[in-house]
Amino acid sequence: MRLTVVGTGYVGLVTGACFAEMGLTVTCVDIDEAKVAALRRGEIPIHEPGLEPLVKSNVAEGRLSFSTSLAEAMQNSSIHFIAVGTPPDDDGSADLSHVLAVARDIGRNLERYAVIVDKSTVPVGTADRVRQTIQAELDARGVDIEFDVVSNPEFLKEGAAVEDFMKPDRIIIGTDSERAAEKMRQLYAPFNRNHQRTLFMGVRDAEMTKYAANAMLATKISFINEIAVLCDRLGVDVENVRRGIGSDQRIGYHFIYPGCGYGGSCFPKDVKALVRTAHESGVEPTLLQAVEARNQAQRRLLFDKIVERFGADLSGLHFAVWGLAFKPGTDDMREASSRVLIEALTSAGASVCAYDPVAMWVARREFAEDLFADGRLQLAENQYDALDGADAMVLVTEWKPFRFPDFGQMKRRMRRPVIFDGRNQYDPRMVKEEGFEYAGIGRR
Ligand code: UDX
Repeated sequence: MRLTVVGTGYVGLVTGACFAEMGLTVTCVDIDEAKVAALRRGEIPIHEPGLEPLVKSNVAEGRLSFSTSLAEAMQNSSIHFIAVGTPPDDDGSADLSHVLAVARDIGRNLERYAVIVDKSTVPVGTADRVRQTIQAELDARGVDIEFDVVSNPEFLKEGAAVEDFMKPDRIIIGTDSERAAEKMRQLYAPFNRNHQRTLFMGVRDAEMTKYAANAMLATKISFINEIAVLCDRLGVDVENVRRGIGSDQRIGYHFIYPGCGYGGSCFPKDVKALVRTAHESGVEPTLLQAVEARNQAQRRLLFDKIVERFGADLSGLHFAVWGLAFKPGTDDMREASSRVLIEALTSAGASVCAYDPVAMWVARREFAEDLFADGRLQLAENQYDALDGADAMVLVTEWKPFRFPDFGQMKRRMRRPVIFDGRNQYDPRMVKEEGFEYAGIGRR
């Protein structure tokens, strides 16, 4: 079986490499020539554990190739995945222009029956639009070729994407065509060896499942974050509360870690898009709006705590920031809480020295040049260098090396021994015994 995967971002590249690893022949297509050239050389544009060796070995075995030509890639394949980006529009809705451009291209090049698979996260009804777009191109060409459009959303966590793909909790296939369902069943058979993980459903049901899953997870996080803020005011330790409620199996321990807000390429974008869909459908999404609002507030919480401690004018103060990526295990800084913090600190007159184990090159690209130029933002070589002369250390991303730092060295290098712990990594009592002033999220 041969596949085409359009889009070589996180989702497309992981999808292509993992199917190739299962023995399928995959061509990954991208319009970005430089990216395709780099991928052919085995250079992976993202930090994703396990991905590089997978891409390299499958390229070497001839099962995985990269191309800028969709027409060429489609010649030998009968399943075409669409895995291009759906960034948020100004109004929060998902921008479908890339998805529909690929659909047009597929319509122009389709020569025989194929299954077109929507892998990108797209609003309910998009598969219909993809189908109409392809059909319009076929009509314009005056050809009559059958095809099916299937929704097969991804549930990959960055930092664990390869593992999630290889051992999925579930595989969602949305289709109303038995022919397409059979093809998808064959395609995913290697991932269902131990037990059946595939759920077949309607196309729109599958599209909604993806949004509902991410919105539910975001809701859990915003819920515990709101409880944590309340705990702060009431002198309650949210970590005890978290353990106390997590032990109830109906609640569970997952995704109730309080912190300085969720980020990444999915939760913020998908919650906003679902709010937008709700409004368009005449539904007032009160809960989803609250989830989003809590997260906005949460991403400013560390800054608010700093202002509470040092006052609104932070001129002359210097802060060390540990962690820039939106979560550990990735170099992705999209919607990262570190951005909100660093922008707020530098706007309030403070200077910042930041360190992240893998996202430094992204930070250099993402932050405004003038922040570096006038010294308001510096990047350190390691976590301890970042602390020199700092009035406080602010932990934003819970990378493992930050877990048990050398507190003695920290104290020697900092101007003041103050820690703002945005991910509740430290035991407040222990840190205080080490001589630090400590503020976590909802810690007594
Ligand atoms: C998420 C979904 O988990 C995945 O299924 C979907 O396909 C894409 O979106 P990802 O964006 O990679 O994956 O990150 P995830 O591990 O889910 O974390 C998202 C954010 O939530 C991070 O910023 C993380 O720090 C935060 N988070 C997570 C919390 O603040 N508390 C928690 O308890 C869990």
